[in-house]
Amino acid sequence: MTNPFFLLLGLVAPVVAAAQTIHSPNHKLALTFAVSPAGEPTYQLAYGSKPVLKPSRLGVAVQGQPGFAQGLTVVRLDSSRHDDTWTPVWGETKTIRNHYQELAVTLQQAAPAGHRMVLRFRLFDDGLGFRYEWPQQAGFSYFVVSGERTEFNLPADHKAFWIPGDYDSNEYAYTTSRLSAVDTAPIAPIQERAAPQRVQTPLMLKADNGLYVNIHEAALVNYPAMMLHVDTRTFGLRSELVPDAVGNFAYLQAPEHTPWRTVVVADNAPAILASKLILNLNEPSTIAEPGWIKPQKFVGVWWEMQTGKAGWNYADTANTKLASTDWNKLKPSGRHGANTANVKRYIDFAAAHHIPGVLVEGWNVGWEDWVNNWKEDVFDFVTPYPDFAVEELRSYAAARGVNIIMHHETSGSATNYERRQTEAYRFMNDHGYTSVKTGYVGKIIPRGEHHDGQWMVNHYVRTAQKTAARHLMVDMHESVRPTGLHRTYPNWLACEAARGNEFNAFSEGNAPEHETILPFTRLMGGPMDYTPGIFKLTGYEPTGQRRVHTTLAKQLALYVTLYSPLQMAADLPENYNQHLDAFKFIEDVPVDWDETRILAAEPGDYLTTVRRAKGKDEWYLGSITDENSRTQPVRLDFLTPGQRYEATIYADGKGADWQRNPASYQITKKFVTSKSALTLKLAAGGGAAVSFKPVGR
Ligand code: NOJ
Ligand code: CA
Repeated sequence: MTNPFFLLLGLVAPVVAAAQTIHSPNHKLALTFAVSPAGEPTYQLAYGSKPVLKPSRLGVAVQGQPGFAQGLTVVRLDSSRHDDTWTPVWGETKTIRNHYQELAVTLQQAAPAGHRMVLRFRLFDDGLGFRYEWPQQAGFSYFVVSGERTEFNLPADHKAFWIPGDYDSNEYAYTTSRLSAVDTAPIAPIQERAAPQRVQTPLMLKADNGLYVNIHEAALVNYPAMMLHVDTRTFGLRSELVPDAVGNFAYLQAPEHTPWRTVVVADNAPAILASKLILNLNEPSTIAEPGWIKPQKFVGVWWEMQTGKAGWNYADTANTKLASTDWNKLKPSGRHGANTANVKRYIDFAAAHHIPGVLVEGWNVGWEDWVNNWKEDVFDFVTPYPDFAVEELRSYAAARGVNIIMHHETSGSATNYERRQTEAYRFMNDHGYTSVKTGYVGKIIPRGEHHDGQWMVNHYVRTAQKTAARHLMVDMHESVRPTGLHRTYPNWLACEAARGNEFNAFSEGNAPEHETILPFTRLMGGPMDYTPGIFKLTGYEPTGQRRVHTTLAKQLALYVTLYSPLQMAADLPENYNQHLDAFKFIEDVPVDWDETRILAAEPGDYLTTVRRAKGKDEWYLGSITDENSRTQPVRLDFLTPGQRYEATIYADGKGADWQRNPASYQITKKFVTSKSALTLKLAAGGGAAVSFKPVGR
């Protein structure tokens, strides 16, 4: 539907258009597009009377050509309205409304090149998306992007929740600072500033005038990830693309387009978390019959390696540096976690508690010398260690209704993985595996490529496609952070791509505020395999001081506050067996939902979320706080009126405190209706989880 008012056809002689303004469907957001006297495209964004973005330039530089950053004229403007509702394969809500006003601006370079680029803006009630598009055209086909100049010029020195702009890792603790202090604010000890003033997206911002702004991207395909350079004096942000091994950014061929640049805006923090803008800007699912895709919980032979009780490797490498292929020349270490008997122990626990998946890491040969060694061929993904009985375990698990989750650590050698994927996925089909966790620890081979560059971005997408073709679900670790592609590839259940719970095992850990920031940053792009559910919270080696920085009740709340269709119950069976009453919440909590409401939220401080289970009138609530204790009132008016529910409240216990008494919890039950209210007492670093199950009237 094109509004003829906007159709400004100048196909023969280009014309410069005056500024064009469009409004979001509810008229709160206004986007104004203009071209500067130098022929630079610019845009600005306002929320009512409040500026969100001051005039900001747009443009893309092209190697050896005039490019699309200046000297441009508008030759066509099209505006249209879109409104439909779609159903995700899984997710936080049953349906999603996709409602926006679109403005497409066709820009043309000066003669003699005269090539065209379209800037497409979509303005939703919850924010803005825009991208650069190159239509098919004579004389402009293959090109190299040598820079992108997308500016987000902020009107003031907002508070920012950020991680450094590292091209290879997003596993950082968040720093909270004003934009003006991004280059000077102290950051967590084990970290380095990848480059002064460069930060990653999703970038969460809070303005003093009450606006919340989140900047990220949607549908990152065939292009590098966007980082942001922060001008600490003007509060201007500028896109900085992740380069490839020779310093270029993207190799494209028209017709092609960039990912969407996204600016989610709201006047309250919960509305940021409720935004579906990034999903709406992704393409619909490519999987016509997704019945084989199953959101699920899993346990795993994993935390025992993270905490040093067991190893991934089979052979004893204590005093030996050996080739990974020579592992069988050494004696067994006796500490190999992925041995058949141990795996059966996890299968038994999973079966007893209706957990469908058991991840097993360290099952395949190669772990004796696997990381940062520049070796291409560390793993073949099909050869088990001698104490891991593939078929015996498959039938043992199947008889108990459990599925083993495959693990493919690539040790950064993506080329090796690409060569072996067909065989590896056939092995999975042949042996009954339906899900795979991949990983990219270490430097990327091909050498010089970055985890977040165009080459790897395409590798992750190819991996989603190749696994889909074999009806396999995939969870990627050390990948680029997600941008909503799980809409298009719903078999791509989750990524890690941020600092997970595991950092509590192998470093000074995650501060209590960490999980209150993640939903506003990393999770804006998609689900995270955070691995919650640690019940043994203290006393980890080597110092004995390593610990989880939450209470036990907060670990339960994370199953609701950190959405993922794939949730690990990460602790060991022996630790769960000591708290089976608390484990009941993990057993009950779903991973797929019909409805989600954010009841209270503030990045860095607290979050309370309630969700209704898929196809059921059961609700689950998670409430978490940072290092400060809090009282969180909750009105239960989300419950079905007239229906009674049994609420089971898993709360911080007497004297609970993440530092001094993290394992203190109490479980109480009461009958409630939509007219009831609860007052949740959250300890410092604490939380609460509640299940609401309907009972007869
Ligand atoms: C890092 C991953 O995040 C972790 O989950 C995994 O256990 C190790 N790599 C080994 O692959
Ligand atoms: Ca990791």
